[in-house]
Amino acid sequence: MSTTTASTIANNARFNAEAVKWDSNVAHVRCCEMALESVLHHVPAFADGQAKNFDVLEIGCGTGLLSFNLSPRVRSLVGVDIADGMIDAFNAKIGALPQPEEANLAAVCVLLEDAEDVKVQGAAAALASGRGESESIPYRFDLIISHLTLHHIPSLLAILATMFQCLKPGGWIALTDFEDFGPDAVIFHPKSKREGVERHGIKRNEMERMINGTGFDQVKVQTAFTFTKEVEDEDGGPKKEMSFPFLICMGRKA
Ligand SMILES: C[S@@+](CC[C@H](N)C(=O)[O-])C[C@H]1O[C@@H](n2cnc3c(N)ncnc32)[C@H](O)[C@@H]1O
Repeated sequence: MSTTTASTIANNARFNAEAVKWDSNVAHVRCCEMALESVLHHVPAFADGQAKNFDVLEIGCGTGLLSFNLSPRVRSLVGVDIADGMIDAFNAKIGALPQPEEANLAAVCVLLEDAEDVKVQGAAAALASGRGESESIPYRFDLIISHLTLHHIPSLLAILATMFQCLKPGGWIALTDFEDFGPDAVIFHPKSKREGVERHGIKRNEMERMINGTGFDQVKVQTAFTFTKEVEDEDGGPKKEMSFPFLICMGRKA
């Protein structure tokens, strides 16, 4: 059953409109750099060299700010996003690479609800064949990442279950998003952007409970970094700087 909601529709309209200028916002770039550092720090395979053989799936890849920085460190990366404007921007960046046909990353516009999704399977197969491999299908992943996206997804339980299905045995999730640390978390988004937001950040204990409940082991939800950005004053005053804690949610499929 599809989980398209009113907020999903608002989300798509907003991100399609923002896609072209997304990468020119230094806050977006900086936040993705911090997410990358956190993923590299927390996923053991980046320390022991195993990650070079990793096939990565990214949920909510957007224009690829995180994807293009992570992809040189892994074997392949498939990004999914529900906003076609974001995927167009991602693909334009692949097209601008010196040798696009040798790229080890790809992105597809899909609301991922099933590990057997044909677009994801097709993208993974195309990347494998580009490396001269024909692996046995269905394709599964060693690592799933997602940055600044969980707060848009209607059912976290459903997406965690899908992630679990998408992983190989021994595969990891490493998901970053801002924390719902209390009423002020709502200020992360200006009023004009709140329509497509399902929740104002993710909750530490709730995430830990849900990841455990999905069947992951080695579950860890902890502060990843603190991100400072300019926000609107709720009372109409001048803009101000505010710091937001981000969580990284880790789990391993045994
Ligand atoms: C705040 S943007 C972050 C994009 C990118 N991760 C970055 O940090 O630059 C959130 C992204 O999640 C996407 N998104 C929202 N709900 C989604 C879902 N259910 N599945 C996949 N992508 C989704 C949006 O279209 C948007 O591109």
